[in-house]
Amino acid sequence: PVCPAMDERERVDCHPEGKAARDRCEARGCCWSPAATQGPPSCFYPTNHGYEVDGAVVKTASGYRARLRRLKTPTMYGGDVETVELLVEMQEEHRLHVKILDPAEARYEVPEAALRVPRPGQAADSPMYDVTFTHRPFSFKVTRRSTGATIFDTSVGKLTFGDQFLSVSTRLASSNLYGLGEHVHRRYRHDLNWKTWPIFASGANPFGNYENLYGHHPFYMCLEDDGKANGVMLLNSNAMDVTLQPGAPDSAPIVTYRVIGGVLDFYMFLGPSPENVVQQYTELIGRPVMPAYWGLGFQLCRWNYTNTAGLREVIERNRATGIPYDVQYGDIDYMEDRKDFTYDADLYQGLPDLVQDLHDHGQKYIIILDPAITNQDRRDGSPYQPYEDGLRDGVFVKAADGETNLIGEVWPGTTLFPDYTNPSTTEWWSEYCQRFHNVIPYDGLWIDMNEPKSFMNGSNNGCESNRWNYPPFKPAIVGRIMYDLTLCMDARQTWGKHYDVHSLYGHSMAIATRSAMSRVFPTKRGVIITRSSFPSTGSYAGHWLGSNKAAWEDMEWSIPALFELNLFGIPYIGADICGFLWEPTEELCQRWMQLGAFYPFSRNHNHREYKDQDPAVFSQSMIDSTRDVMMTRYTLLPYLYTLFYHAHVAGTTVVRPLLHEFPTDSNTWDVDRQFLWGSGLLISPVLTPNTTTVSAYFPDTPWYDYYTGQEVEGEYRGQTVTLDAPMNKINVHVRGGTILPTQQPANTTVYSRKNPMGLLVAMDDSSAASGTLFWDDGEAVDSIERKDYLFVNLSASSTELTCDVVALPLGGPTAGHWAALRYGTVSVYGLALGTGTPTVRAGRVDGPLQTVAASRVQYDRDNQVLLLTDLQAM
Ligand code: GLC
Repeated sequence: PVCPAMDERERVDCHPEGKAARDRCEARGCCWSPAATQGPPSCFYPTNHGYEVDGAVVKTASGYRARLRRLKTPTMYGGDVETVELLVEMQEEHRLHVKILDPAEARYEVPEAALRVPRPGQAADSPMYDVTFTHRPFSFKVTRRSTGATIFDTSVGKLTFGDQFLSVSTRLASSNLYGLGEHVHRRYRHDLNWKTWPIFASGANPFGNYENLYGHHPFYMCLEDDGKANGVMLLNSNAMDVTLQPGAPDSAPIVTYRVIGGVLDFYMFLGPSPENVVQQYTELIGRPVMPAYWGLGFQLCRWNYTNTAGLREVIERNRATGIPYDVQYGDIDYMEDRKDFTYDADLYQGLPDLVQDLHDHGQKYIIILDPAITNQDRRDGSPYQPYEDGLRDGVFVKAADGETNLIGEVWPGTTLFPDYTNPSTTEWWSEYCQRFHNVIPYDGLWIDMNEPKSFMNGSNNGCESNRWNYPPFKPAIVGRIMYDLTLCMDARQTWGKHYDVHSLYGHSMAIATRSAMSRVFPTKRGVIITRSSFPSTGSYAGHWLGSNKAAWEDMEWSIPALFELNLFGIPYIGADICGFLWEPTEELCQRWMQLGAFYPFSRNHNHREYKDQDPAVFSQSMIDSTRDVMMTRYTLLPYLYTLFYHAHVAGTTVVRPLLHEFPTDSNTWDVDRQFLWGSGLLISPVLTPNTTTVSAYFPDTPWYDYYTGQEVEGEYRGQTVTLDAPMNKINVHVRGGTILPTQQPANTTVYSRKNPMGLLVAMDDSSAASGTLFWDDGEAVDSIERKDYLFVNLSASSTELTCDVVALPLGGPTAGHWAALRYGTVSVYGLALGTGTPTVRAGRVDGPLQTVAASRVQYDRDNQVLLLTDLQAM
């Protein structure tokens, strides 16, 4: 090995399985030198490790191609592929694809049915990037053409391509790294000081000990030093880990991928803005699904309501509080002995009537479904039909022999696992979703435990001792063995070996469930939330952050997690409000309801062992504060819904960090205790106990208090200021230049949608503002694709507010729907008017302007707030 002296922070670990020692390290052909500091490895790659270009790098129609030959350095874990192929496709000006594969033998790749990627075409004419190659040892480097910034540079760690160990390292453009998931990162901006993050779907609890959690998302965004952003995805479903290390001080941080299967398949996105990166990423993996409007309402859930009477009591006491409340859930206790597609006719006698009662009140009911299907009979001794039919149709995951069904254990006892990658399974699943809907007319589905999680390791027969169940290198994933609390890695599915498709389980279940839903209610969108996810799952479902706990730190962590899931293309996201495990204090729950009122997916959920935490059980002041903040949410739902429209058609984020809007303001780069809805609304929650102030950063532009319209006081622009935050208040600010569409709230969205709409105009420094409104019937499938919606461009100057209707289907099926829409109130923040009472004229889009009666016009000259009310009556 060639082992020149180098800064320890530049070393890439050559013995990542741990327990490195000189003899083992040198036998592998790596360099050994005990590290002087904590973090760097003592065993590290020699500089002559890797591959060399065999011949030349050839220019092709779509980019470049080369053969790479392995250098005669010793092996890491065997199975080395001696000759690999490099394919570079300059797919778009903003997107580059780099793939390294085995030209002699097809290796596992994420199938088209999971994620459709573009076919190679002509190289982009003027790409935003350059790609250069070093021949021996082989490496490649991607730079941003306009600035020379390094986007990807593999010269640091060199390439390893073995059958069950593939590794590459890259240097980052800066130390502003975001994403990779799913984990508890606590902060949005990564700590690059020797952290290793495993990626592989798992049902581990999010306790913050570097666990790999439910989703598999090898995607990051890097914010370059000048505020331009790039993104990188490794399209690979195998287990992996990613190490982040600082690099030498005069150099840049290093990211090392270690994957145990598949191919090295990178997509790079050049932005240049952070939002552009997310748009380009979701352009590739699929845009987020449009949720039903009611799915933006407040939702209530707990595991174990005991029985129908218990559930009815909770529903009624929460209705009585007047807190807006759209959705009630049924967790596994509604089922007979935890069996999917049944309900407990003893404990939950009359459940169908209660669901009818919810519907009569404009409320919805979502039920949980777990993938695992038991082979036990029903309570009355009759066969459990979903199991019987599943057996007949061959829908279950098979053991290694490809014939016997693999058996594990989940809530109902011994279970089999549907293989959702098999089209017959989708058929069978849809059939049962349909039949059960005839029994319990649910409105949405919550799919859980789909990592898949089992209560045994592997199967009831254990797992064979082979290279799938015991690969030569196990990434730093939770558990002692690969099949810890999941299926054997050599189990068989239609898309391949569980070893390769494990992390696609939840994704395939989400696809199958979306397809079931379109059979159950073909004309409605419904709502699906899934625990496990993969790139592209956001096109089918939303997600919640899993089994968190009632602790301040968990509430705090939920904000960076919202950012990450938005990066991953899953903007319909929220944490269990007030915490799933443990018991919240009233104070924590009150603060969490305030924060949760701004989660895109807003649900209070609780574990069966802990006492009730639905808002109605708390004091009157807590109830009042929760009602207020939920009323605020409901007032703002037209804005939130419009953000989902933009996410669906253009791939922008719904919840976004300040750095997405102000990327050149380095103060924003690690702000993750505040967040934005879209570009225009800033939320600054209290996240600590006994606190009645909050410190909030305001980028250099005007910001107005959402509630009063007053501009933030003092020298606040570009500053962190302390704001009052009494127990009943969450600070919300509107950014100057924004127009927010609003609506008078009600207890459910069915009723709020009948109320007058409103506009909140916040002026920028040049007295201008703009915004958009998307509106449709709130639930029709494909209303956007069918163009059955209203779309309004909103713009304002100091003298005029224009609502320019750019799409309004007059003859469509929902035509009658638009006729009722009226703007009731308009508030304008930051409007400087001369003396005297302002005269306001207003009118319908196509009608004449009339003078608005003085009684409907209020102008607060001190605060520069104009308020117009009762306009709908004009
Ligand atoms: C899992 C889910 C949790 C659910 C429970 C019972 O722990 O994460 O949300 O309540 O299962 O179904």
